Amino acid sequence: MVKVFVVYDTKYGNTRLVAEKIAEGMREVDGIETAISDVEEVDLEKVADCDAILIGSPNHWGGPSRTIRKFIDKLGKLDLKAKWVAVFDTYIKEDFEKAVKKMEKRIHEKVPNLKLTASGLSIRIGGMKGPIVEGELPKCKDFGKKVAAQLKSG
Ligand SMILES: Cc1cc2nc3c(=O)[nH]c(=O)nc-3n(C[C@H](O)[C@H](O)[C@H](O)COP(=O)(O)O)c2cc1C
Repeated sequence: MVKVFVVYDTKYGNTRLVAEKIAEGMREVDGIETAISDVEEVDLEKVADCDAILIGSPNHWGGPSRTIRKFIDKLGKLDLKAKWVAVFDTYIKEDFEKAVKKMEKRIHEKVPNLKLTASGLSIRIGGMKGPIVEGELPKCKDFGKKVAAQLKSG
């Protein structure tokens, strides 16, 4: 079994929905076990015991939320079993991939042992509080399947 932990931050629920869809996609691949948690409630011991970590954040001021930045910094201080990581974000309009790129950079700096298993997924939402723009949700499930397949082959 490959154990994956999906951790997200959310203010209005959209990033949680994205995280749930990604986990749903991952579970369609045999041999993958997923856990999912809001970053505010996450059990760091369980995260440390996983094979891969997925981290999702709403775009706040052109980057990940403060809570997710702090979570990444905490990962750097843990004795992680995980070797793999992937990130995702939600954004409104012109900030495509900005939060994912900043998360990837921060992970590279603070947790250099974690390698990216896929480049980040950026999901567009219709306004501050949502909803997720039509056609975006299927991308989440596909991303989950893709990451899960890569983890199994790697
Ligand atoms: C404090 C704050 C700052 C934000 N800044 C940006 C921004 O710079 N660019 C952007 O595309 N969206 C921005 N947004 C919109 C969020 O990306 C949007 O609310 C979020 O994706 C919704 O996800 P959630 O339901 O998981 O909170 C901001 C939202 C908040 C609350």
